[in-house]
Amino acid sequence: MRAASQRCRGCDLYKCATQAVFSEGPSRAQVFVIGEQPGDVEDREGRPFVGPAGRLFDRAMEAAGIDRDEVYLTNAVKHFKWARDTKSKRRIHKTPNRSEVRACFPWLANEIALVQPRIIVCLGAVAAKALLGPTFSVTKKRGMVVKSEWAATVIATVHPSSVLRAPKEERVRAERMFVADLRKVARELAKPAKRADRSAHKFSGWPIPTAVRSTPSSESIRPSHE
Ligand code: URA
Repeated sequence: MRAASQRCRGCDLYKCATQAVFSEGPSRAQVFVIGEQPGDVEDREGRPFVGPAGRLFDRAMEAAGIDRDEVYLTNAVKHFKWARDTKSKRRIHKTPNRSEVRACFPWLANEIALVQPRIIVCLGAVAAKALLGPTFSVTKKRGMVVKSEWAATVIATVHPSSVLRAPKEERVRAERMFVADLRKVARELAKPAKRADRSAHKFSGWPIPTAVRSTPSSESIRPSHE
């Protein structure tokens, strides 16, 4: 899937991105974290959560007592969506729209099916709505265990970049609340695992096209929703 994602033409975002940024982490991780999309640094380096939001995320995970190396980290959208800032010439993050999130969803659903995590953590509204539906509200349900077929435990919280964007006087509090949500994840993780936890979701994955499983071809991959 990692190799195939480089040839994804499911939407137009591949045209402006350097590369698809796939996941990182153990293939049988108990905790599966979903971000929004790679940022500027991730797009260049090809790794998720290695920019400023990633550094804040790492700090918060450490404060919550969760080891990043034990966690599977991915994004709802695998290509960086951006626009050039006319003044600074910097690449400015643009939120992916619903059809881009939908086009990317088969990758995410397959990753969940393969990893079979006990706990899924959605960071921010894009990730939460991608998994839990468009009416899901992170503001109303942050830090709460949500019922879902994707994993035994699903928890949504804010995106670390919203903590970075918070006004100076709010910033410390925002980071503390983010860590508090991640501590709930740590508490869920500390509970004894039940055998059924890893088979809680009904989805068993879309088949990966044979061309991808064998030798990589120059053919483009368009994930299917069937
Ligand atoms: N923000 C995300 O949601 N994902 C990344 O990989 C980096 C920043």
